[in-house]
Amino acid sequence: MKSFKTIILAAGEGTRMKSKKPKVLHELFHVPMICHVIKAAQACDTEALCVVVGHKAEEVKNAIAEESISFVLQTQQLGTGHAVMQAMDFIEEDKNILILYGDTPLITKESLLDLLAFHEKENNSVSIVSAILENPEGYGHIIRDKNGNFLKNIEHKDASEQEKKVKEINTGIYCFKGSALKTALSKLTNHNAQGEYYLPDTLEIILQSGGTVNALVTTDASAFFGINSRVQLAEATAILQKRINQKHMENGVTIVSPETTWIDMEVSIGQDTILLPNTILEGNTSIGEDCTIGPNAKLTNMTIGNGVQLQSSTALHSSIGNHVIIGPFAYIRPDCHIADNVKVGDFVEVKNSTIGKGTKIPHLTYVGDTDAGEKINFGCGSITVNYDGNKKHRTTVEDNVFVGCNANLVAPVTIQKGSYIAAGSTITRDVPENVLAVARARQQTIEGWVKKH
Ligand code: UD1
Ligand code: CA
Repeated sequence: MKSFKTIILAAGEGTRMKSKKPKVLHELFHVPMICHVIKAAQACDTEALCVVVGHKAEEVKNAIAEESISFVLQTQQLGTGHAVMQAMDFIEEDKNILILYGDTPLITKESLLDLLAFHEKENNSVSIVSAILENPEGYGHIIRDKNGNFLKNIEHKDASEQEKKVKEINTGIYCFKGSALKTALSKLTNHNAQGEYYLPDTLEIILQSGGTVNALVTTDASAFFGINSRVQLAEATAILQKRINQKHMENGVTIVSPETTWIDMEVSIGQDTILLPNTILEGNTSIGEDCTIGPNAKLTNMTIGNGVQLQSSTALHSSIGNHVIIGPFAYIRPDCHIADNVKVGDFVEVKNSTIGKGTKIPHLTYVGDTDAGEKINFGCGSITVNYDGNKKHRTTVEDNVFVGCNANLVAPVTIQKGSYIAAGSTITRDVPENVLAVARARQQTIEGWVKKH
């Protein structure tokens, strides 16, 4: 395929979002909508990318700054044609120019490749994507002659009653020959209902000067869905959610309740893993095979091995080995490395800690800033006391230690191999190997006390 350059229009304000944030920076699955568009163009190996910014230009530029992307400023939003004029220097006569909108995040690599292939095959001066919509209101209508040849695009506001009924609409995605686009832009006027320079008017101009124009009718109109309001943002998010979930199911993941399962674009999931309802997988998360995740799980930037069971828990920026059991109601905070066969049970919080193979932390425990070895048992209510009110300190617990219930390990402190910490102890000094450490008041029995009182 011939190489092409891409222009993305993103200067508009997006008033219907009713937002302080520029429309194109509103997110779907934690990615600004314009970045979905950029990704699709990059996935098709666009040679160069230029974004037309205007409203809150700096904010938009900062959000998407990438070395390979150039920007041009449209100071006044005088229409889509005027926006493309600002990128005149970017347009090369002998190159194809793909034009996209920053507010159509559902665009796919496949849909763009279809247009590019159609453009090449027909050798058109300009090719556009059209769609057949039951309710074509608000769009540009595609007018054809009785042989089906393209005649022009007429904007809804400028259309006659007859034209308004035409269900074939302009999706707003174009592929131009650079030379045709340049010439047509120089002839564009703003003599229309909105007093704007309409990009689609270039189609008629090109046709009249002897060029060829045709529209590829898409079979998947959802890919070209343009977002103008938060209601449409939610609709588009739901479409993307379906697409993502479907891909995982096709790859061998069971998703019990796709409507309540939210998986970010970059997440990977192994075969035969089951996602139960209300599971949210965010960021750069990867999950192995044969896991059961959920119900009610939220994982952010997690690496998880095979055969892990995790229910009703939150885990972030950490790694978990194989055959680990997490939850219910566990909280794995950043920088934890949890080895194979560990159990982190109910109401347990772990932070910035390494937990060795086979260690059990079954319930009601806080483990923070700790290096824990293998086959340790943390009793119910045991706590690593890592904060002295000023600084954080580390705790080391070596292999095969038994930490009794309700023990405090006051850091910095080391418990050496094989030792036992008596329940209720507050340990402030290092404990050597294979001993029992008791640090609590001795129990007394006071005879006759009850009678006296
Ligand atoms: C446009 C098309 C219409 C098509 C529809 C598909 C025109 C005149 N009409 O209408 O044929 O059916 O898209 O969704 O093009 N923008 C700028 N600068 C401007 C104006 C717009 O950068 O001066 C950007 C906007 O930020 C937006 C995109 O261009 O990303 C589309 O603009 P919008 O006003 O939404 O066009 P529509 O009225 O939807
Ligand atoms: Ca629009």
